[in-house]
Amino acid sequence: MTTTLLRRTLLGAALLAPLVATAADKPLVMGFSQVGAESEWRSANTASVKAAARQAGITLKFADAQQKQENQVKAIRTFIAQKVDVIAFSPVVESGWDTVLKEARAARIPVVLTDRAVNVSDPSLYVSFIGSDFVEEGRKAGRWLLERAAKNPGASLNIVELQGTVGSAPAIDRKKGFEEVIKANPKLQVIRSQSGEFTRAKGKEVMEAFLKAKDKKIDVLYAHNDDMAIGAIQAIEEAGLKPGKDITIISIDGVKGAFQAMLAGKLNVTIECNPLLGPQLMELARKVVAGQPVEKRITVIEGVFPAEVAAKELPNRKY
Ligand code: AHR
Repeated sequence: MTTTLLRRTLLGAALLAPLVATAADKPLVMGFSQVGAESEWRSANTASVKAAARQAGITLKFADAQQKQENQVKAIRTFIAQKVDVIAFSPVVESGWDTVLKEARAARIPVVLTDRAVNVSDPSLYVSFIGSDFVEEGRKAGRWLLERAAKNPGASLNIVELQGTVGSAPAIDRKKGFEEVIKANPKLQVIRSQSGEFTRAKGKEVMEAFLKAKDKKIDVLYAHNDDMAIGAIQAIEEAGLKPGKDITIISIDGVKGAFQAMLAGKLNVTIECNPLLGPQLMELARKVVAGQPVEKRITVIEGVFPAEVAAKELPNRKY
């Protein structure tokens, strides 16, 4: 090699070096499609994801689907067009994801699910799912009621159920887990069950309709989330009844609003569903993008909080 050629080669390498370093240090980009902002739980989940992305140095492209699957499909397609490194989403409903997930696979973009699961023909269309065991949450709610009913054996209890969003994993699974457990006592009967869409407003509206029917006495309300229970509490009070006393109330999530309702004697128990999934999600995304092995299903550990422990627990609650 001549001296001039050697000098040019070294110069070329020196010019290239910063470019290579920049490519290697490029922050990981995550496209995240969130369900919406329907509940206190969801707001805590969004805050956790955003804060964890910032802390992990991950660039987050965040899209709010406003509880509509079509918006999530559009967001995922946008992320594919933007060539993000990884797509994460919390699916509004369980089914109808095959086509768009196949598009992500064709673009070689890994997909991770968070909070809610999907029902797809080929489970390899997503790499991993991190979230709660919703069936178990329903079972916990059922067990709490079974134990309470056992204190008054022989008494019949009429239950009304406020379901979450129709077709969503938590609505399907929480119903299933609860029914599975309460069937052990034939005196416990679900007399009405309808969706309150996981929101306070709809929870209130549906509870009003349940109360207006007046054909059967309502002994217990099982709400698939705290927000619907809080909405229903207003309806019960407006109907001249005492929530938590005239009607026993069981709900799911464990948000601060539920603890405040328990302290006021208006809610009897909340089953925890942890929304603070951000840090684990970011760690998972890094591993997935680096091609490291990850578990297909990562479950979150959660508790049960009856009204008796509300005062002690409230100061510890983070959401
Ligand atoms: O998917 C989790 C559920 O979605 C929470 O229980 C509910 O509050 C939310 O809207």
